Amino acid sequence: MRIVLGVGGGIAAYKVASLLRLFTEAGHDVTVIPTEAATRFVGVATWEALSGHPVSNSVFDAVHTVNHVRLGHEAELIVVAPATADLLARAATGQADDLLTNTLLMAGDCPVLMAPAMHTEMWQHPATQANVETLRSRGVTVLEPASGRLTGADSGPGRLPEPEAIFTAAMALAAATVPSAGAPAAEPDVDAVLAAGPSAAPSVVPPLAGLTVTVSAGGTREPLDPVRFLGNRSSGKQGVALAAAALEAGARVRLLAAHMEVPVPAGVEVVQVETALELRKAALHAAADSNVVIMAAAVADFRPADVSGTKIKKRDDVADPVINLVRNPDILRELVEVRDAASRDQLIVGFAAETGDAGGDVLEYARAKLRRKACDLLVVNQVGRDLVFGEDTNSVVILSRDGSEPQEASGSKSDVAAAVIDRISAELSRAVPPA
Ligand SMILES: Cc1cc2nc3c(=O)[nH]c(=O)nc-3n(C[C@H](O)[C@H](O)[C@H](O)COP(=O)(O)O)c2cc1C
Repeated sequence: MRIVLGVGGGIAAYKVASLLRLFTEAGHDVTVIPTEAATRFVGVATWEALSGHPVSNSVFDAVHTVNHVRLGHEAELIVVAPATADLLARAATGQADDLLTNTLLMAGDCPVLMAPAMHTEMWQHPATQANVETLRSRGVTVLEPASGRLTGADSGPGRLPEPEAIFTAAMALAAATVPSAGAPAAEPDVDAVLAAGPSAAPSVVPPLAGLTVTVSAGGTREPLDPVRFLGNRSSGKQGVALAAAALEAGARVRLLAAHMEVPVPAGVEVVQVETALELRKAALHAAADSNVVIMAAAVADFRPADVSGTKIKKRDDVADPVINLVRNPDILRELVEVRDAASRDQLIVGFAAETGDAGGDVLEYARAKLRRKACDLLVVNQVGRDLVFGEDTNSVVILSRDGSEPQEASGSKSDVAAAVIDRISAELSRAVPPA
């Protein structure tokens, strides 16, 4: 496959030499286009030696080959790493002041993946976020940066994802992109594997390549007043493990993150929510373009009927407050109804945190829940004060709407997530026979 690797002028440019090696060792033909600033971090000689191609950042070099048009036309995949704040801004506003931005404008249907890296303040600045939103709305895949140590002593979101993670995301994006009519076909390596079907694919195309998976994680918080809320014990660990497993399986992953105690894996798109109503809105919006929706967040069944605009005070002259609750909407059920009404091809997975009581055991309650919600799979676990919430291990039973044998999975939350993602991949490959 012909890949253009754009390199921005950030400190993480040196890591992109490893990414280039991953591409070339996988047999791809890579042309590197560093920005002028990037060449102050890593020299042109490094890119030329590793890629085996001449390297330039000017539209006025090798003019007889019409580089500024040709590279974008011929590319089958464009990867930009690190995508600096400046480069995101230039790409979002359609500037064409160097060879890389010219090439991005010439990309046409070619899939484009950008891996941002910068200080947290730059990343979180509304200008940068607006640029990312613009690029995503135009179909560019913009990865979330990783969290961790940055250039100085500070740390936070803004690190370049590891080269292996960018490589996996890029290969998944390329595999998912079907050339439009009249466009040149992709090199046979990816195409041949896809045409041969999932059984021939695992070592090259991950099982969820080309699919969008939305995962909800953490626990919702229902405000009582500006400082208090009704919450729950969910840490977000299981949802984050699911997001990581889906990413590893090659999916584009969107995480609807309620309150969480763990960081989000690099490469996952994040939508922050607080309340059940916010999660409902985000879930319905995200589901519209998702192949798989996994609702792993602990969603409050009830919320306070009234939210005080000021802190509720403890007063001797007034009776203690009574909190009235109202029911929150059933998001899982609604997702299934919307999917069915739209005849959308989508797998919906629910999570049930159940406790047994005199009226029935955990599985009986879970089976009843599966009937009520009508989702495709229900992952059931028994919860309690020292069970599941906040722990690093989990033990679940996966129930299926088709009534097939319940499947047990246990171990670390990553092990459980891998088992759930494997089961989802199996369900999808049963639903869609190989081409
Ligand atoms: C030491 C150093 C490190 C930098 N690291 C980053 C970075 O990680 N991300 C970023 O967006 N800008 C970073 N910058 C600022 C960019 O180099 C600057 O915005 C430049 O104009 C980017 O140009 P480009 O987008 O054309 O590559 C850094 C600058 C210096 C001097």
